[in-house]
Amino acid sequence: MKKLITNIAQLVNIREKNQLLRGSDLKILPSLSNAYLLINNGAIESYGSMDELNAGITEAAETIDAKGSFVMPCWCDSHTHLVFAASREEEFVDKIKGMSYADIAARGGGILNSAAKLNAMPEETLYQLAKERLWKAIKTGTGAIEIKSGYGLSVAGELKMLRVIKRLKREAPIPIKATFLGAHSYPLEYKENHQGYINLIINEMLPVIAHEKLADYIDVFCETGFFSPEETEIICKAGIKIGLKPKIHANQLNLSGGVQAGVKLGAVSVDHLETMDEDTIKLLAASKTIGTLLPTAAFFLRMPFQPARQLIDAGCAIALASDFNPGSSPSYNMNLVVAMSCIQMKMLPEEAMNAATINGAYAMGLENEAGSITVGKKANLIFTKPIPSLAYLPYSFGENLVDSVMIEGTFL
Ligand code: NIG
Ligand code: FE
Repeated sequence: MKKLITNIAQLVNIREKNQLLRGSDLKILPSLSNAYLLINNGAIESYGSMDELNAGITEAAETIDAKGSFVMPCWCDSHTHLVFAASREEEFVDKIKGMSYADIAARGGGILNSAAKLNAMPEETLYQLAKERLWKAIKTGTGAIEIKSGYGLSVAGELKMLRVIKRLKREAPIPIKATFLGAHSYPLEYKENHQGYINLIINEMLPVIAHEKLADYIDVFCETGFFSPEETEIICKAGIKIGLKPKIHANQLNLSGGVQAGVKLGAVSVDHLETMDEDTIKLLAASKTIGTLLPTAAFFLRMPFQPARQLIDAGCAIALASDFNPGSSPSYNMNLVVAMSCIQMKMLPEEAMNAATINGAYAMGLENEAGSITVGKKANLIFTKPIPSLAYLPYSFGENLVDSVMIEGTFL
């Protein structure tokens, strides 16, 4: 049966046509006040003003009174590492005491710490833990998500992670994209033998990934002390050969050349971008590559925030994502990401919402299913608690203003 949602205070992010938003288009967030929304078979069938609601529509549907909620498309979180074995709050405390992210990585902590624990964990346990986290994220309003491997750093570990993600794809109610991030760090035994690990990725991991269809994207942590732009190119090109599109970890800690490598490779997105200069911003703005900003990672690592204003003003297409992972962003909460983007990066609420929905959907190739109120897209929706305006959401940061979440037309 159809479902009719009535008395929506504001239906947010209505779009007749899909469009990746860049520059000044980001601040336009089309919305309709006092609206209804009709759902058929889990998908958006139509919407309009309550004044236009007629018996033809109401009689054929079960009615749900939104009672003045704002209704928005669910968040599209295009960058997460939500499959991991264990949290790392001991490193968090070490950082409070003065160690840096790089110091911790150099002593075998960080990503390598996560990898050791993940390799020791049975696939079933890993799956259950990931599933729990995914459901928590969905309940905060995430309605489409990308998940990376990268805590295996061994053939068995990487494949185990990707199989967990594949099972989540099959069993979870929201669209999921999988990214192969075997090149997240060099494992200790390959520290002096980069070519050996790259060979392992290309000759041992990628063929199985292709055969079992385990990934949609390929990612590399292009960073000083991790993978160079040249290594990034070699690895991504091998991924492209088996049909994976690149999404790169770029310019987090240094001007690493990651954005240049990503643009050259035609990457879907370059993610992080804490460390940018004018030339790099210009290059990104002139490309088709999306810049995905991860403000909670900058916040957690006490780094300067991404230069969102300069990026937007230069004409870049910007997405926002959580980077949910145990080392640099232990939060899956996209409401917080949006708030932080407005508070610390001076993004307008409209810009942040667009970047966290429709542009996030583009950053994972889900723009035909998610990210806006568009006929035919999934009815994955956030219903807010009573709020005076949309800007109240990021303004009242830390308050849970998500009243309920609907996935394919069904409340959780
Ligand atoms: O996106 N930058 C590299 N990877 C993750 C952090 C991973 C970790 O510390 O476990 C990130 O921030
Ligand atoms: Fe990341």
